[in-house]
Amino acid sequence: MTSATLQEWTADQLQRVEAALSAWVPADAPAGLGDAMRYGVLDGGKRLRPLLVLAASQAVNGHPAAALRAACAVELIHAYSLVHDDMPCMDNDVLRRGKPTVHVKFGQAQAMLAGDAMQALAFELLTPTEEGAIEPALQARLVGLLARGAGHSGMAGGQAIDLASVGRSLGESELRRMHELKTGALLQASVDIGAACGDADSATCTALSRYGHAIGLAFQVVDDILDVTQDTEVLGKTAGKDQEQAKPTYVSLMGLDAARRHAHQLHEQALAALEACALPDTQRLRELADLVVHRHH
Ligand code: IPE
Ligand code: IPE
Ligand code: MG
Ligand code: MG
Ligand code: MG
Repeated sequence: MTSATLQEWTADQLQRVEAALSAWVPADAPAGLGDAMRYGVLDGGKRLRPLLVLAASQAVNGHPAAALRAACAVELIHAYSLVHDDMPCMDNDVLRRGKPTVHVKFGQAQAMLAGDAMQALAFELLTPTEEGAIEPALQARLVGLLARGAGHSGMAGGQAIDLASVGRSLGESELRRMHELKTGALLQASVDIGAACGDADSATCTALSRYGHAIGLAFQVVDDILDVTQDTEVLGKTAGKDQEQAKPTYVSLMGLDAARRHAHQLHEQALAALEACALPDTQRLRELADLVVHRHH
């Protein structure tokens, strides 16, 4: 059974993730590209997706080296999505993780390329050339899960819906689909990827995936809530952007109280899915679900 507190466990995992990212994201990519990549991904963010990969992998006794690579790969996809999300052609934000956004600091073309290169690097990390580092079958499985979470049927598809929805009011099922794709898919993929690092049976993987789906959607519902309730300083990104840019959100659809209730329902669903998966130790996953819903930034 788990003995460390969540805080101790998190500090330990984050230290490994930070060291690995710092080693793997190149400083010497051509023409300053490495500086923009490192600026976009190192030293910032809650690192929730890597923590989910590592917690899910631990819950199924997964391959630790594969899980660490996968944790960094998912964070690279996420950080790239933020770099592009902040660009003037998307949400046009100047502040991210408490710092000027990548395009403000390095220019739009370099921000676009840094995002492109971060995305490719994620897949490089999952396909190491060192003999025996990750079994080829596991490499292929991880690549498939990450690609599906990131691409047209996941994050990028959801972002397309988001931009096409500016100024419109969506119904609940349309809004849910947008959130499931733009944010939920990569969070769910984080859990699926962690689970894939072990050899859990398919019923367990399905239950873990249901957990990932519920917290993935809850995460964006809470992001919508924090956008209206929290300060820019605490968020490290500009508060109040959704209303300013006429984005449909759970708050604009149902109001703050109902959005909060909805996040709690999703939290319950996530915990119920964990109960159903019959693994001996899911404490970290339970604690991470609590964090998703009760976070302040
Ligand atoms: C922000 O994600 C963008 C969304 C998908 C809602 P996070 O809130 O996880 O951002 P960081 O990684 O902590 O900066
Ligand atoms: C972002 O949603 C989802 C991504 C895929 C990056 P938001 O646009 O609401 O994220 P923030 O609020 O800028 O972090
Ligand atoms: Mg956006
Ligand atoms: Mg945004
Ligand atoms: Mg937001």
